[in-house]
Amino acid sequence: MDAQELREAFVDFFKSRGHAHISSASLIPENDPTVLFTTAGMHPLVPYLLGERHPGGKRLVDFQKCVRTGDIDEVGDATHLTFFEMLGNWSLGDYFKKESIAFSMEFLNTVLNIDRGHLAVTAFEGEDGIPRDDETADIWRSHGMRDDQIFFYGRGDNWWGPAGQTGPCGPDTEIFYDDLRPKCGPDCGPSCRCGKYVEIWNNVFMQYNKTKEGAFEPLKQKNVDTGMGLERALCFVNGAKTVYDTSLFSGIMNKLEELSGKKRTEDVRSFRIIADHLRAATFMLGDGVIPAKIGQGYILRRLIRRASRYLSKIGVDGIVMQNVSEVVISEYSKAYPELERNRDDIFSRIAAEEEKFHKTLGKGLRRFEEMLGENGGASVLNGELVFRLYDTFGFPVELTQELAAEKGYKVDAEDFDKRFREHQDKSRAGSDQVFKGGLADAGEQTTRLHTATHILNAALRNIVDPEIKQKGSNITAERLRFDFNLDRKLTADELERIEEFVNGVINADIPVVCEELAYEEAKNRNAIGVFQDKYGEVVKVYSIGDVSTELCGGPHVKSTGEIGRFRITKEESSAAGVRRIKATVGQ
Ligand code: SER
Repeated sequence: MDAQELREAFVDFFKSRGHAHISSASLIPENDPTVLFTTAGMHPLVPYLLGERHPGGKRLVDFQKCVRTGDIDEVGDATHLTFFEMLGNWSLGDYFKKESIAFSMEFLNTVLNIDRGHLAVTAFEGEDGIPRDDETADIWRSHGMRDDQIFFYGRGDNWWGPAGQTGPCGPDTEIFYDDLRPKCGPDCGPSCRCGKYVEIWNNVFMQYNKTKEGAFEPLKQKNVDTGMGLERALCFVNGAKTVYDTSLFSGIMNKLEELSGKKRTEDVRSFRIIADHLRAATFMLGDGVIPAKIGQGYILRRLIRRASRYLSKIGVDGIVMQNVSEVVISEYSKAYPELERNRDDIFSRIAAEEEKFHKTLGKGLRRFEEMLGENGGASVLNGELVFRLYDTFGFPVELTQELAAEKGYKVDAEDFDKRFREHQDKSRAGSDQVFKGGLADAGEQTTRLHTATHILNAALRNIVDPEIKQKGSNITAERLRFDFNLDRKLTADELERIEEFVNGVINADIPVVCEELAYEEAKNRNAIGVFQDKYGEVVKVYSIGDVSTELCGGPHVKSTGEIGRFRITKEESSAAGVRRIKATVGQ
């Protein structure tokens, strides 16, 4: 089975059990993102897990592109990936534990052909006043699982979410493949890292909402959220040793062998790093991320630059990334047609960034060698030198850290951070750690800000340029942040008129109307928003009189009067050709 067959087999299995197939959402969270990237299949579904009605119904299935950036520097071993795909099925207040486990067992047995003798499962052992999940264990027993195949763990292992600080979460049951080797010791079990057990699937029983105060309140509805890593599942299906040995990577690896004239076995780590990073970079570019100094663009830049160094390590000197992107596009476009659509942008942006870094990489590496001499024999590189490498040669600090580690040095990261912050007070969004607010904070204030965002979007197109399009949006309880394409600063007069426009709509107290429309109908009505491959699907469209018609998952206020006074607090550049507005609403 190849990757596309596995995606289709998963979707078909759940479709024939009443699930609607929804398309993969963008890697950039669309509505109220408090994280940089979509990190799990459930991210785009948060409003529905909290109780919003989904136009597809109560049973959903998809494959979702995801990026996790916590482990970029671990990439190169057999398991870590920056970009990955998650197969998932959901019940939004429909079926619960019994059906979910039955579906999983049947899929594993009949589609992946994994015998139940090779499975081990876990359940929540109870903690913090939430009881032990004996119900889940009993259901597994009813499917023929023996007691010695069922393990109980606490919150650390058997609890999922919330994705941010607040939001839907709950106990889970994880399904592992057991290679039936003898246990490595008396404590060996699915949570052991010896390799005997490999996780296949995670079924989360989302029945709690974690509040800002840290309490777990029952959700309006009991949901199921499952996730299976496509790459790993493919390993099982085809007996591949690592994810890099699956068909998902063979084309990319072949291309790297061709470009370098080396075999992947000659430098396994470098080949893996390049393959992972360029696959991730291609997908990010395909979703409109642009290399930048902060936010998503900074992660993209880090990936491209790290890949560039490893390309030079395996002896590739030219501007070649585009050739690797081409393989990614041709192999993944069937599942993700946006790659093909954005092919030209992907090519030009990756080549520009590669060239930019190429010009300084060699010089920067030489400078790095000199720095080691200037460091006065100390084993920690001082932050000033590290900052100069960043500032002059564009070396992300993580790259310098890695170079330093190879030579037995450490980096004074704290000192670097201080200098970095001083240099760029606007770089708050530059670290992976920043977006710690709750992803699912669908509180009243974020709802108001969300509707205000739609009006702001309309105001910009009315007052500044009808060609303006949303490039990103982020809402916290305090403010909205809206990125849009424009290659110049807004004037004071424009800012004033935008505020007036938005406040005019608010004062007119216009009802916000939500409709579920066929995709084509939404297009005919000139709704704006991210239209991606939703043909045939029913989509939600929010309209505010004749001011705004936008494709969106919600939630929104009922009437614009609820928003309160709108104020722009900042207008600044976000990336090349992209401006950013921050604004507040309320008293
Ligand atoms: N949200 C869960 C996970 O990411 C299941 O999809 O593992």
